[in-house]
Amino acid sequence: MMRLPCLYHCLIVICFTAASAIGCKKTATPQVGPTPEATLKGTAAFPMGSAVVASPLNTNYYYQGTLLNEYNSMTADYEMKFDITEPQEGTYNYTPGDYIVGFAAQHHIRMHGHNLIWHQALPSWVLAFKGDSSAWENLFATHIKNEATHYKGQVASWDVVNEALRDDNGALRSAETTPNDGSGSIWRQHLGADYIARAFVYAHEADPAALLFYNDYGQEWLGVKLDSMIALLNSLTKRGIPISGVGMQMHIDINADTAAISEALRRLASTGLLVHISELDISVNPNNLTNITFTPALQLRQASLFESIAKSYRANVPPAQRYGITTWGFSDADSWIISYFHRQDWPLPFDANYAKKPAYFGLLKGLTE
Ligand code: XIL
Repeated sequence: MMRLPCLYHCLIVICFTAASAIGCKKTATPQVGPTPEATLKGTAAFPMGSAVVASPLNTNYYYQGTLLNEYNSMTADYEMKFDITEPQEGTYNYTPGDYIVGFAAQHHIRMHGHNLIWHQALPSWVLAFKGDSSAWENLFATHIKNEATHYKGQVASWDVVNEALRDDNGALRSAETTPNDGSGSIWRQHLGADYIARAFVYAHEADPAALLFYNDYGQEWLGVKLDSMIALLNSLTKRGIPISGVGMQMHIDINADTAAISEALRRLASTGLLVHISELDISVNPNNLTNITFTPALQLRQASLFESIAKSYRANVPPAQRYGITTWGFSDADSWIISYFHRQDWPLPFDANYAKKPAYFGLLKGLTE
């Protein structure tokens, strides 16, 4: 009996020595199974999110499986917007949003609420509402408090105000319709310029634990819109308004300037707020061409942009300010770009069959190296 351990020990020494001598050390380390594949959430040192739509989530196993494998944060695509949650005055419909929030809770995925105040996705009763400034203030406060209270403890954070600034001059959207960036804002029109601060105060009263964000697009243009956004954020912070972060939507296209994106991230981070890349997608067909092919060259260009953005986020946003990177959906089958702009496009990391595109591997690489 005493001889066995010795025999065993000697064999190991002989094998090890022989293996080293003939350069086949690999055989001395038995493989216990296949190496698990890298995932976005397993690779990033911060949350990786996606916008999610209730209907494929509850019916499509590819959709659900990809989400569960790759992401640890979720944003509702439209289910928490005002026109869905209160389609008629006093009639509430939280069912689609509750489904998404329930799914997130069941799978321990962080839930980011989107959004409380926006000039779009308004129910027709709000657009038709007649009342003096105190009636409007009541409508505004009631909406924010109702929804933030309904989801209290279930969402980690909110986009409290979405897209309040004009593209052309960085001023608040107001009554006028501006040339290139859609409608004005009924909120600014009826509530005065300080409605943004009050939206954050009402949301904080309803859910003091939620982190509150200002969310917008176009920061990467490095223009007057970014200047006035930074001024707005700094002034809210200075006044003690309960704002925790800023969302950079980043609906960009294949021609985006990576140096400008880095500069915008650096300037947003200089506010000291959390920085969330909140709606990332990279359009391949920004000029709306009718006959376009997603060539290997375009696929590589898109992959390298995804890689640069992840790298730039890591380089320009200090770790404590990284709220994460959220893509606006993950499969080209479900991207809003295609239905909203009625065009062919391939803006996301997974193809229409939920297979990983070069874009996915670019993003993964940018999160790793
Ligand atoms: C989009 C949704 O993805 C669509 O389903 C909806 O029809 C329109 O809105 N900026 C935002 C998001 O803040 O709410 C928008 O989402 C995309 C642009």
